[in-house]
Amino acid sequence: MSGFLTWILIASASIASASKSPPTFSIPPSDAVDHVRPLIGNGGDTPNGSGGMIPSTAPPFAMTRWVAQTHENYVSVTPYNLTASTIHGFQGTHQPAIWMGESAPVVVVPGIGQVKSAFADRGLGFSNASEVITPSYYRVDLDAGNGSTILAEQSATSRVGHLRFAFPKEQSAYVLLEATRPSVITSTPTNITYPSGSIAIDPARREITGSNSERQDWIITPTSIATNTRHFRGYFCARFDAPFASYGVVQNGSESAGATTGNGALLSAYARFGAGTTTVNVRIGVSFISVDQARRNIDAEIADGVALEETARQTRAAWAEKLDRITLEGASEADKEVFYTAFFHTLQYPYEQDEGGHYYSGYDNQVHEGKSYTGYSNWDTFRAEWAWLIFFAPERVPAMITSMLQDYQEKRISWYGIHACRRRVAEPLPQVGTHADSLIAEAVVKGIKGFDMDLAWEAACKDGTNVGYEVRAGLSSVYAEKGWVADDVHSESASRTLDYAYDDYALSRLADALGKPAHIVSGLQNRAMTAPFTLYNNETGFMEARNASGAWAGPDNGWTEGDKWAYTFDVVHDIPGLVQHRGGNASFVASLDAHFDGGHNDHSNEPSHHIPYLYALAGAASKTQERVREIAAANYNSTPTGLSGNEDCGQMSAWYLFSALGFYPVNPASGEYVVGSPFFDKVTIRLPGRATALTITAAGAPLANYVRSLTIDGRAVGSAVIRHEQIAEGAEVLFNMSDVQETWGK
Ligand SMILES: *[C@@H]1O[C@H](CO)[C@@H](O)[C@H](O)[C@H]1NC(C)=O
Ligand SMILES: *[C@@H]1O[C@H](CO)[C@@H](O)[C@H](O)[C@H]1NC(C)=O
Ligand SMILES: *[C@@H]1O[C@H](CO)[C@@H](O)[C@H](O)[C@H]1NC(C)=O
Ligand SMILES: *[C@@H]1O[C@H](CO)[C@@H](O)[C@H](O)[C@H]1NC(C)=O
Ligand SMILES: *[C@@H]1O[C@H](CO)[C@@H](O)[C@H](O)[C@H]1NC(C)=O
Ligand SMILES: *[C@@H]1O[C@H](CO)[C@@H](O)[C@H](O)[C@H]1NC(C)=O
Ligand SMILES: *[C@@H]1O[C@H](CO)[C@@H](O)[C@H](O)[C@H]1NC(C)=O
Ligand SMILES: *[C@@H]1O[C@H](CO)[C@@H](O)[C@H](O)[C@H]1NC(C)=O
Ligand SMILES: *[C@@H]1O[C@H](CO)[C@@H](O)[C@H](O)[C@H]1NC(C)=O
Ligand SMILES: *[C@@H]1O[C@H](CO)[C@@H](O)[C@H](O)[C@H]1NC(C)=O
Repeated sequence: MSGFLTWILIASASIASASKSPPTFSIPPSDAVDHVRPLIGNGGDTPNGSGGMIPSTAPPFAMTRWVAQTHENYVSVTPYNLTASTIHGFQGTHQPAIWMGESAPVVVVPGIGQVKSAFADRGLGFSNASEVITPSYYRVDLDAGNGSTILAEQSATSRVGHLRFAFPKEQSAYVLLEATRPSVITSTPTNITYPSGSIAIDPARREITGSNSERQDWIITPTSIATNTRHFRGYFCARFDAPFASYGVVQNGSESAGATTGNGALLSAYARFGAGTTTVNVRIGVSFISVDQARRNIDAEIADGVALEETARQTRAAWAEKLDRITLEGASEADKEVFYTAFFHTLQYPYEQDEGGHYYSGYDNQVHEGKSYTGYSNWDTFRAEWAWLIFFAPERVPAMITSMLQDYQEKRISWYGIHACRRRVAEPLPQVGTHADSLIAEAVVKGIKGFDMDLAWEAACKDGTNVGYEVRAGLSSVYAEKGWVADDVHSESASRTLDYAYDDYALSRLADALGKPAHIVSGLQNRAMTAPFTLYNNETGFMEARNASGAWAGPDNGWTEGDKWAYTFDVVHDIPGLVQHRGGNASFVASLDAHFDGGHNDHSNEPSHHIPYLYALAGAASKTQERVREIAAANYNSTPTGLSGNEDCGQMSAWYLFSALGFYPVNPASGEYVVGSPFFDKVTIRLPGRATALTITAAGAPLANYVRSLTIDGRAVGSAVIRHEQIAEGAEVLFNMSDVQETWGK
């Protein structure tokens, strides 16, 4: 569907019918944004699972994303599912990944006649033929019964949703704000709690305000900060442009007409409009600080009188500023849809969490000055998403690091160092590694400045040393003495061992870049290089978990979201060492063939992502070129099921994007990339803040997988490894492609 053209037609139609005459806006042209298909990754009915992506409107890195609500979302269910036939409102959501659940949603529900507040009652039919779905603007016709239609339009800035409803004439239209709802615990739909909140109506200001304590991740909050996170609240202020003819509060299905306040569970409030009112604009400011801050967020981002077209124009311009930086030649329409949708996905996380120069911290339950981000998911995103952000959002990277360091300072009292995997305002879910170390090291190695390096070193260093608390489970006991995490003491022991070893490597790079004493650098480096191979079982040729005693704990024990096949390749910082253990290059290549041909590569989960690139590090670059193309074709396409695995805060898409350019950060903290097989004839990249473009020319690439030769700025590159400095300031990368296997890169 040509969503953009439809949008222009519809936008001008609604301008014509509105009573006010808003100025005509020039909508910035953007071939890139017009190729984004927000439904890619929403269809989940495949054996490979779902990307869990929703067709939301918001600018890059937005604090709150807005989406038509077809489902009450929880850990395994998204708020929008394209298989649905009814829409139950428009939801401001903070669910960055399908599996972690929601926190403090607010839902805006239009209706006619009797007020319906319960999710099951308020759904209005729609046909997907009436939907226009873009990153900055969404519209749909809702069937309000008796032949009446409500036209609903949606756009958003980072902290404010902007909705406009066109109601049929002379009907008793209302808009309801849902503050609290039933909340499913984990992914068991019958396991329900009733989070509490508040609501207030101010007819003079034409505002409905409220709060919501829903936070589905509370079940995994460590007890050490639970007393603080208990106070978590999301706040909202919905401001209307039409006077209220009447209003009321609804609680658990019972309506109190004329009431102006309410507290508790299952809480909503509505405003009804005069029969002459056919168009209602509502802007909903969202805050983690207070209702007043939510109100200020409206004033700061979408001032009174600003038309929806202007909000949508601004948000479109914000996407265009990023996505138009890459121009593709030799890409089909479907290729462009996959590519630019992936780009759109990678620039959603981590997301902003500061408001008006302040932010709420769930770790100490205080409001602090400064910027803040959340939704890092480091265990996934340290692989390639972070490297992508260093290229395309370098202006945000220092604040993203500072934000991690703030978390570190705010929870000094607990046993956490830098959180390992924060996905939410107060959720330091410790996934198995401490990959914040890698994020910081990679940024420093790649020359990012603008954050407190001393504090960064202090925080990262505590992850890798035993300072009275143990950030890495098992670090101070068997790992320190013997090099592995004991399987009879800690869960996921083998994955932990390999992750810690990589994080030690990252720390050694950081120490080196910061000029720390040589014995510190070499100490970390030694542990990084020896620890992984304490798990290498010579008898089987695979990594294997071990008990504290040294006894092998079994080939299937100790793994996280992967198995011995994928994890045996998980020594990204010492592939030569791994090659040696697996008997040299030829034997290593054979083990990669066995992995792929045996169906063990599971690209829908992260531990497999770097594996196709390992051939190139063992003298078989042409096999990397083949596998990368196969994986891209099998796991990415431009349909709703075109993302085989959970997007995981951008990592699935970052794999595709780097692969399409022709290189991938196998060992992120090294500042190196391994060369694969570029997909398109030519890619032109206008890097942020750089005068020189990065062009990647690979004439014939769409039909020719193989690399015959490579030059960068005219200099021949003979090996399949390039360094960040060779391309980061802009460069001419020239691939000579071939349709038969070549010996290049041996
Ligand atoms: C949408 O609903 C279908 C059918 O119930 C389900 O299989 C799929 O996983 C859902 N998709 C998402 C993204 O929730
Ligand atoms: C639109 O809905 C129809 C039926 O309701 C369905 O067959 C079709 O797949 C949907 N299209 C998209 C793009 O979701
Ligand atoms: C539809 O019309 C019938 C008959 O006039 C009326 O009773 C009913 O309330 C209307 N329904 C809605 C949703 O307006
Ligand atoms: C509901 O979830 C909680 C938290 O995980 C758990 O303790 C409880 O046993 C679950 N109850 C049911 C009925 O599944
Ligand atoms: C809602 O009302 C029903 C029926 O009166 C009652 O059984 C239920 O406990 C109430 N729920 C809450 C969360 O108050
Ligand atoms: C490893 O430890 C577990 C838990 O104590 C024990 O059940 C298992 O037998 C041990 N394995 C070996 C090979 O000693
Ligand atoms: C595996 O073999 C290497 C040499 O090939 C040897 O140094 C090492 O001790 C062996 N490890 C085990 C656990 O047997
Ligand atoms: C293995 O291949 C790599 C990459 O081509 C090469 O650098 C290395 O020297 C090879 N090792 C041996 C032992 O041939
Ligand atoms: C699932 O993914 C594998 C590769 O990981 C691919 O070969 C297969 O075609 C995919 N299946 C579906 C139904 O998408
Ligand atoms: C690629 O290399 C071949 C063989 O060296 C050469 O004939 C051809 O002109 C090159 N193509 C380009 C586009 O440079």
